Amino acid sequence: MEIVESKTALRTILGKSRSAGKSIGFVPTMGFLHAGHLSLMRRARQENDLVVVSIFVNPTQFGPNEDLDTYPRDADRDTELMRSENVDIAFFPPVEEIYPRGFTTFVAVEGPMTQVLCATSRPTHFRGVTTIVAKLFNLVKPDKAYFGQKDAQQVVVIQQMVKDLDFDLQVVVCPIKREADGLAMSSRNTYLSPRHRADAAVLFQSLAEAQQMIAGGERSASAVVRSIATKIGAAAQDAIIDYIAVVDAETLADLETLQGDILIALAVKFGKTRLIDNIRIKGLGPNCGGPCR
Ligand code: PAF
Repeated sequence: MEIVESKTALRTILGKSRSAGKSIGFVPTMGFLHAGHLSLMRRARQENDLVVVSIFVNPTQFGPNEDLDTYPRDADRDTELMRSENVDIAFFPPVEEIYPRGFTTFVAVEGPMTQVLCATSRPTHFRGVTTIVAKLFNLVKPDKAYFGQKDAQQVVVIQQMVKDLDFDLQVVVCPIKREADGLAMSSRNTYLSPRHRADAAVLFQSLAEAQQMIAGGERSASAVVRSIATKIGAAAQDAIIDYIAVVDAETLADLETLQGDILIALAVKFGKTRLIDNIRIKGLGPNCGGPCR
């Protein structure tokens, strides 16, 4: 595995591989790798000749009072994990390499999809994500780029950017990796106290229960939201719900009646740690077997 810090070195290595006809799979990350990241690398390994992983804690996607300074970092451990997944190139750029003095250009997907869900409490987050991802796409020029479904809104926003700006690559979305109790894997889980870690299992449990209600015929978005909120409130009394939403999976527009491809997404704070999770349900028909409302 080659460890690369500069854009010039990255471009030189990747230029040679591209000229040799090699396909490039790219996994952008902020490091502190967990099994979710490793599953993206494994999929990239299966589908490409060359696998590039970036490790960069991107300052522009953090708000002023967020956890940029304390975001967990462990470059040595990340390096070992990438080696064990047979990654070819680990790109570890310093901040000045990505945002040199005088940097002023941002890439922003405008419109409702960047104003709802996580954007309500993190208004500048997606502009930071699309800016760094666009820059990394320009540097790596991958054939395929791999993202986790856990960041469902991020995936939708990046797909929109790829379409609008004609990036010549395929976005591959990989399933959420979960701990044994269902908690979605996240680098931020390490912040949780033992009690909050135990409480946080209710997020997936409440989503799974909602999925069962829907399988049983429930089609009212507000009934689904109410059920999730009640379950979280009962299991984790000091949890603060940022949002629970039932939206169209492609546009992220709010739904009243569940139909088509839907996303049930939530963000909940346990102490200072804000966790997100979601489930996607495809092809819901207007008719239901059970008590339709
Ligand atoms: O999902 C993440 O880890 C980040 O948002 C990403 C895509 C690497 C951009 O910094």
